[in-house]
Amino acid sequence: MLFTVVGPGRAGLSFAGALVASGWQCVATLGRHDDLRLAAADCDVVLITVPDDQIAAVAAAITPGRAVVVHASGAKGLDVLAPHARRASVHPLMSLPDPETGAGKLRRGGVFAVAGDPVAERIVTALGGRPVAVDDGRRPLYHATAAVAANHLVALCAQVERLAARAGVPLDAYWDLMETTLENVRRSGPIPSLTGPAARGDSSTISLHLEALPTDERTLYLVLANEAARLAGRPPYREQTRTVSTEALAVTPTTPTLVPTIAELRARLDAERRAGRSIGFVPTMGYLHDGHGSLMRAAAAANDVVVASIFVNPLQFAPTEDLAGYPRDLERDIGVAGTNGVHLLFTPDVTEMYPRPMITTVSVAELSARWDGASRPTHFDGVSTVVTKLFNIVGPCRAYFGEKDYQQLAIITRMTADLAIPVEVIGCPIVREPDGLAMSSRNVYLDPAQRAAAVVLRRALDAGTAAILDGERDPERVSDVMTSVVAAEPLATLDYAAAVDPHTLEVPATLGSHTRLLIAARVGTTRLIDNCGVDTGSVRPLGTPA
Ligand code: PAF
Repeated sequence: MLFTVVGPGRAGLSFAGALVASGWQCVATLGRHDDLRLAAADCDVVLITVPDDQIAAVAAAITPGRAVVVHASGAKGLDVLAPHARRASVHPLMSLPDPETGAGKLRRGGVFAVAGDPVAERIVTALGGRPVAVDDGRRPLYHATAAVAANHLVALCAQVERLAARAGVPLDAYWDLMETTLENVRRSGPIPSLTGPAARGDSSTISLHLEALPTDERTLYLVLANEAARLAGRPPYREQTRTVSTEALAVTPTTPTLVPTIAELRARLDAERRAGRSIGFVPTMGYLHDGHGSLMRAAAAANDVVVASIFVNPLQFAPTEDLAGYPRDLERDIGVAGTNGVHLLFTPDVTEMYPRPMITTVSVAELSARWDGASRPTHFDGVSTVVTKLFNIVGPCRAYFGEKDYQQLAIITRMTADLAIPVEVIGCPIVREPDGLAMSSRNVYLDPAQRAAAVVLRRALDAGTAAILDGERDPERVSDVMTSVVAAEPLATLDYAAAVDPHTLEVPATLGSHTRLLIAARVGTTRLIDNCGVDTGSVRPLGTPA
């Protein structure tokens, strides 16, 4: 058989070498800039091996003749070979790294996808390969599968290589593991070959892995861990807020630099990251207390540079709420920030953050609608939007939030994961006054009688906790216990008291071994919130239903 190759690259020369070695005769190897008009005149097959997006133009440049025109693309159908009535395609399911190795591989009995004129099968048979018919309708799927099998596997190997280097373990060790695993999958199929924490439902180990991985390696890890979990019939891993203890964290006091503009903050933080320094970020609305201080200390203990923001965000206040009267004291805040190790204090004004009316909103469905979201319908959208903007301004960092605003923390954790924002969200325990009242900037609104009455929130949480520890598993009864404690305090009016799943914030039918108690009440006109976790029994693996 006589053949001509158009496209003398790796694939074209590999085919030419392999066919010649199989007894076929090569009439010419042409480039796409050669005169192609007569290419089909004096041979049996014209094999087009140019890049996919050039096939149609090359085919159109060849005057139809006696040869069958064949392309070697995996993704393209036969229609790209118009105007040739006799057309076919042959796609080798293998990579052809260079002409010599490629020619050898083509003759090693591999699989080729074929379509169209029977000459396609003749080519494959001549090479000693196995033809598999793939019609045009299934072509993109066939090719996508090949991309997963080859390119995506390479991408995965590259991650193994990067992480092995980081872990200081020789790559060889992982090669053995990969080869054995592939062998197992070939022999027994994917499900019996699964091992590892995702297959076992060991979410705490996945959390550990995620913490150890650099931020830009996490998305791939998580997608594949969840795919392994799906294969194993387990629920997906739920992005869990990492919590750190803030007790006994000593910091070196600083004199914070005030940074009022986005541009300056970005420039400073980009320079820090370029110098290899890590950033800890504490977003606040100012009027700082030791609850904020504990977040700053946690950030200072784990990062080279600590930035805190002070911005009373209008978007999260309803028109009826206390925006204008929200307590502010920048001088005092600078002192608190310095005592707690903050280096940069981002203090934008409203026109810096919102130079135009905002017509973009970030909204985390479901989680934002319940509890505080029910009483304050626009609040969490305002929080999610400003936090997204702050994360975009600060850039890759660890960001510290108090568990005091537990629903806010759950929303921000979910939003950051859903939008793949390169920020690690870290939750820190509630800091309380000696009598148990959770620290809040709004506590200054309370007069002495209200301040004394406000402790009722903590007492209600304690009563709910005691009920659960005594064996109560009905969330409604636990809610009733907390409600009756608040009802006994004349200065307090309950908004809600609930026992919920700590991840979804939904009230389960029966309480599991991990519960979050949430409470909100008005004391005078001040709305206060509080919460606590109650754990009973053995640790429930994350990501499994309560
Ligand atoms: O928790 C707060 O102080 C605010 O909601 C936050 C996260 C700084 C956004 O304005």
